Amino acid sequence: MSTSDVPEQPALQIVSAGKVFQTGNGPVEAVANININCAQGEFVAILGPSGCGKTTLLRMIGGLIAPTQGDILMDGYSLSRDHSAARTKLAELAFAFQEPRLFPWFTIAENIALPLRLRGFSKSERMNRAQELCDLVGLRGFEKARPAQLSGGMRQRASLARALSVSPKLLLLDEPFGALDAMTRDLMNIELQRICATTGATVVLITHSIAEAVFLADRVVVLTPRPGRIHAIHAIGLPRPRTIEMQESMAFQNHVRAIRTDIAGYPS
Ligand SMILES: Nc1ncnc2c1ncn2[C@@H]1O[C@H](COP(=O)(O)OP(=O)(O)OP(=O)(O)O)[C@@H](O)[C@H]1O
Ligand SMILES: [Mg+2]
Repeated sequence: MSTSDVPEQPALQIVSAGKVFQTGNGPVEAVANININCAQGEFVAILGPSGCGKTTLLRMIGGLIAPTQGDILMDGYSLSRDHSAARTKLAELAFAFQEPRLFPWFTIAENIALPLRLRGFSKSERMNRAQELCDLVGLRGFEKARPAQLSGGMRQRASLARALSVSPKLLLLDEPFGALDAMTRDLMNIELQRICATTGATVVLITHSIAEAVFLADRVVVLTPRPGRIHAIHAIGLPRPRTIEMQESMAFQNHVRAIRTDIAGYPS
């Protein structure tokens, strides 16, 4: 609770945001009327059926595509109106996409450190940070490997490490763990929770796993089928740090059940 009466500026404001794509077959409404405010350091998970507009929403938040309705604000600056301030804000965010998007001709360490190279860090700084991040995501020993020599799950971890390289204030994650085995996924969830607690980053995570959303998030946003609208928002008040064992608890299971019931109640 803030000690002052002035409400804190949300780190991220999604204001009546919508997106209609113009296609050869006519307009496709992907996302409609999304309103979400995220506090600095808040972890928001977004769930919704395939094709409902989750990636579209994340790409709008990250400034990769413009909304056709409404606006996105970072620390109060509008991406569509406050261009120069918004550019500074966009430099403080990082993405990990649904597919890893590594450069095949770079080593894993070079891929991870690429955002640092673009920001002018020295080679030794870059390689030290890449080493730390390889350790963090379990890629020690693969620093000099090329992406093609890694499994899909390992490439996905390298992609997450690259997103973390810049210590982002806003982290946008599009199903980063979808391709991982259950054990690695648990480990990555624990790591991600730890990283968020240490860095204070605001996170928007898209996932298809209700359990993952409940485990990681302060709030879980459930979207409807396309066009994605907000169907429900669940506040997850479970104490932190959360543990894998907590997933067996009644409180955890109740959250999972409530979200499942929401999803079963989609408008037809
Ligand atoms: N660039 C584009 N041009 C035209 N239509 C698009 C474009 N990008 C997305 N769409 C359409 O918008 C809708 C939402 O797509 P989006 O990728 O956001 O869904 P999603 O919720 O991320 O799905 P998934 O869970 O399968 O990743 C789909 O109908 C898709 O075909
Ligand atoms: Mg998607």
